[in-house]
Amino acid sequence: MGKDVIIALDFDSREKTLAFLDRFAGEERKPFVKIGMELYYAEGPAIVREIKARGHKIFLDLKLHDIPNTVKKAMAVLSGLDVDMTNLHAGGTKAMMEAALEGLTRPDGTRPLLIAVTQLTSTSQERMEQDLLIEKPLDQVVLHYAKCAADAGLAGVVCSPLEAGKVHETCGENFLTVTPGVRFADGEVGDQVRVTTPAKAKEIGSDYIVVGRPITQAEDPVAAYRRCVAEFVG
Ligand code: C5P
Repeated sequence: MGKDVIIALDFDSREKTLAFLDRFAGEERKPFVKIGMELYYAEGPAIVREIKARGHKIFLDLKLHDIPNTVKKAMAVLSGLDVDMTNLHAGGTKAMMEAALEGLTRPDGTRPLLIAVTQLTSTSQERMEQDLLIEKPLDQVVLHYAKCAADAGLAGVVCSPLEAGKVHETCGENFLTVTPGVRFADGEVGDQVRVTTPAKAKEIGSDYIVVGRPITQAEDPVAAYRRCVAEFVG
């Protein structure tokens, strides 16, 4: 599995997104990009098709979580968009994840990579205990959810780069770890709490890093992207 840098296109309109992508027009390596709820809800499936037609690989980050039948049918629609990766919440149970895989699988047997969100990195031990009544240590919960996702046949999980090594130990080297929370050593951290550099994420064993503001808000986004690729992919 090739390591890659995924740019989070956290913009609220087609215009801003395409203006950003236009900067990469001359690049030999077309960036792998992530479309999240903000852009998808603003522009709908048309923006996915348009970015795909420009030759980018796409991670559609919509984090589905509903009853198995609904998720299965929604995934069948998403697989028609020809994205390369999409995701759901592992908290929806193994039955929901299995149904999602079924829905996502195209008639020819191919399907986008399906990745599970374990516990969001915004959830603390305290909130998990008090709001969700989950009283185990957070890292154990993350590993358990990852194991459930692997058992259901999913391709990997979204997790902190700091958890990537443990996830690989538990679920195998081929089970993918897709990791946000990446910052340059000399960059701003913003609202992310547990961060690592692209080089450190590579060392720990992340398969894909998801990088938003360090690239999108950079003075020179193309240079920032190249720096991420140089550090992470080599
Ligand atoms: O700007 P920044 O690099 O922090 O962007 C990280 C991206 O990864 C955002 O799109 C954010 O929603 C996403 N993400 C995250 N933590 C998670 C799951 C997704 O930061 N646990």
